[in-house]
Amino acid sequence: MPMIYETIISSLDASNQPHIAPFGTRERDGLILIAPFRPSSSLDNLLHHRCAVMNLTDDVRIFAGALTGRRDWPVRRADKINGVVLESALAHRELELVEIREDETRPELYFKVVHEAQHRPFRGFNRAQAAVIELAVLVSRLHMLPVEKIDAEIAYLQIAVEKTAGEHELQAWQWLIECVDNHKSAIRMENLA
Ligand SMILES: Cc1cc2nc3c(=O)[nH]c(=O)nc-3n(C[C@H](O)[C@H](O)[C@H](O)COP(=O)(O)O)c2cc1C
Repeated sequence: MPMIYETIISSLDASNQPHIAPFGTRERDGLILIAPFRPSSSLDNLLHHRCAVMNLTDDVRIFAGALTGRRDWPVRRADKINGVVLESALAHRELELVEIREDETRPELYFKVVHEAQHRPFRGFNRAQAAVIELAVLVSRLHMLPVEKIDAEIAYLQIAVEKTAGEHELQAWQWLIECVDNHKSAIRMENLA
């Protein structure tokens, strides 16, 4: 099984406005695989410009922010492609689309790496960052999950956040918890109606 790395894919829309979203990426036969579920703005952008930037960042606010309406993070122009790089990226890779495997639900897009650069060192694993990423994945699937499962996961993940978070992790965690709370209130209202 190929490893999946959780990254931030930055793309440009048809009017060249930056768009960022978290995507799990894989490496297959020297190519990078991104598989967006339809519908997806990132998918539209990747097909339109046929390129993207894969950002590796430990600022988990960007993952949590993308799912809670906070997508306005500082970016700069990419070096070799028509795209943007997150200022907070520890490293980035610039990608060009070389192959599409069509699928009604989840097409597979294969990219070659045309440029890569390191910006800051990896500082080690942090459990609160991992917990935020886990909760972000749950939040991106809220409508498919029973509330009891979400509550149980949060209770477990919260331990790592309480023990090891810094300011960015606490903020990201709070945004996601607010999103879960809103979802739970909406369900309660539906049940009352
Ligand atoms: C860590 C993480 C990994 C994700 N990986 C994927 C993925 O591989 N494919 C996908 O369709 N969505 C993935 N998502 C959900 C998307 O980021 C989310 O649906 C986002 O809004 C993409 O939609 P957009 O392209 O319309 O912005 C992931 C979310 C998180 C938090």
